[in-house]
Amino acid sequence: MKTTSDFLKMKKNKEKIAMLTAYDYPSAKLAEEAGVDMILVGDSLGMVVLGYESTVPVTVDDMIHHTKAVKRGAPSTFVVTDMPFMSYHLSMENTLTNAKRIVQESGAHALKVEGGGEVFHVISSLTSAGIPVVAHLGLTPQSVGVLGGYKVQGKDVESAKKMIQDARTAEEAGAMALVLECVPMQLAKDIAAQLSIPVIGIGAGIDVDGQVLVYHDVVKYGVDRVPKFVQSYVDSQVLMKDGLQQYVHEVKENIFPKPEHSFTMKEETLHRLYG
Ligand code: KIV
Ligand code: NA
Repeated sequence: MKTTSDFLKMKKNKEKIAMLTAYDYPSAKLAEEAGVDMILVGDSLGMVVLGYESTVPVTVDDMIHHTKAVKRGAPSTFVVTDMPFMSYHLSMENTLTNAKRIVQESGAHALKVEGGGEVFHVISSLTSAGIPVVAHLGLTPQSVGVLGGYKVQGKDVESAKKMIQDARTAEEAGAMALVLECVPMQLAKDIAAQLSIPVIGIGAGIDVDGQVLVYHDVVKYGVDRVPKFVQSYVDSQVLMKDGLQQYVHEVKENIFPKPEHSFTMKEETLHRLYG
């Protein structure tokens, strides 16, 4: 299994880090088999797996439940789990209690937190407690209400300067990596060049140290349209729907199950049973 020092080395050697979300046993198993370097149990599970409108309703218990399944599916991959909405804002004691629960109960190797400001104290406290932390700047979906929608961040001089400063502060606070979401590629490139920790982009262009995408977007499963920054590499939905429709058809038309799917009794036993 790769560790935090391997990810630093990968950055130094300009070897790209491939990160992908996963939320359950089969997705984690496939991600590991595909050679993903790092799995994110993202709170995006609220949308792509649980069907919520945003990541806001996701709870600490949800994150633990899904991370446990991911760990069983990908026992040899570094697993980062999102701290969900408001689980690291009430007080440092509450933050540490939630972090302790997620790490001890689920076995996550690292936690991810969104935003700057007070969150820098969270990064340093968790890191001091021995928990590696991934920072997340740019578009931070837990703050979608404040940001006024899902849009590109850091497009003007002022917000770009603030993001550069926030990225530096996150590194100083001890973050092991930084996720940059929906950021102009020139700005993301500059931030990746300024930091010694890996910068993992999503909608941040190619000049960063790695990429992360949402599993269901990559394989197009349960999602009707994907954002501009996503590449869907296979359309699972079409294949799955086709298979499911054939199943329903064969049941209704008495085609399935065939003799080869069925079990039989010996003639002699049948005779003794029914005469
Ligand atoms: O929850 C998530 O999937 C994420 C990634 C998009 C970075 O935070
Ligand atoms: Na997330």
